[in-house]
Amino acid sequence: MQTLWEVFRSKGYSRREFLKSATLLMATMGLSPILLNQLVRAMETKPKPYVIWLEFQDCAGCTESFIRTTSILPTDVLLDYISLDYHETLMAPSGTKAELSKEEVIKTQKGRYILVVEGAITPKDGGVYCTVSGKANTELLREAAENAGLVIAVGSCASWGGVPGAYPNPTGAVSVSQYLGKKVVNVPGCPPIGDVMLAVITEFALMGRAPATDSMGRPVAFYGNTIHDKCYRRPFYNAGKFASSFDDEGAKKGYCLYKLGCKGPITRSPCSTVRWNGGLSFPIQSGHPCFGCTEPGFWDRSMYKALSVVEGGWSHTKTAVAVGLGALAGAGLAYLNKRNKGGK
Ligand code: SF4
Ligand code: F3S
Repeated sequence: MQTLWEVFRSKGYSRREFLKSATLLMATMGLSPILLNQLVRAMETKPKPYVIWLEFQDCAGCTESFIRTTSILPTDVLLDYISLDYHETLMAPSGTKAELSKEEVIKTQKGRYILVVEGAITPKDGGVYCTVSGKANTELLREAAENAGLVIAVGSCASWGGVPGAYPNPTGAVSVSQYLGKKVVNVPGCPPIGDVMLAVITEFALMGRAPATDSMGRPVAFYGNTIHDKCYRRPFYNAGKFASSFDDEGAKKGYCLYKLGCKGPITRSPCSTVRWNGGLSFPIQSGHPCFGCTEPGFWDRSMYKALSVVEGGWSHTKTAVAVGLGALAGAGLAYLNKRNKGGK
């Protein structure tokens, strides 16, 4: 099996480009710069990881996001390096051949392969609502998870049940960890940022360890802060300056989107730091409030109601009320400042 450095060379990339990718990878993984040499050494010597990527109740949006990862590794390097031994959307073989190659990895690479799961699991009625090659999704998941070195649930469907689990949840959709009854690494988002998924996979492949996670299984390096903590519109929030409609003066001036329903204050996600499309932008930067797509239950909640008026449902109601009071305090502070300066 090739190493990452060998893949770079075979694609005609220079040593400089390889080292640039190593530096970006280090920063995205949240590693200390003193570990750069260790990371470069691993990229030169560790063989490509075996990856089995299963899709159940999903829209393939996480896959679409993953293959658009460009800021850490060039796409052609990514697709060659993450040796996707089984991936229904991307693999060339199909039918019995594909199933055999998956079984081969499960049997021969015990503890070494990474299992990525995209989509919710549907155990209801014996798993009949999602079957692949004549087997229920539940059976396929158990088979592949048993010998995996690391199980990663990508997207909010695999992490929390997601859109397939929206009320009234006709297929009884649940998350990977709920079904397996054990903690897995959750990389939520609808979809998650490609670079984030890649960094989690490569941390295990290159550094030989799962990322540090919080109590909900989310990698702390990416989900340790809320969007609001790092939002570039935060000074407007603190000053009590809000857009009240999508085309008012406040919106044109780039004011805070809290009153338009922004869920950034209660949403743990790297959108305001890593951003999308190679760090180009994220929903709030494009003028749309965050609707909390990385959080459990977002699919059953109002997208455009301000947090302080959202009733019931949010698992963070106390935080929402506190944030609502914070927004009022910000507005009050802005009024006092204006009055002290002689404004009306
Ligand atoms: Fe940014 Fe939303 Fe927080 Fe406003 S409420 S500062 S738009 S995250
Ligand atoms: Fe989702 Fe909010 Fe980011 S809606 S894509 S977590 S800005």
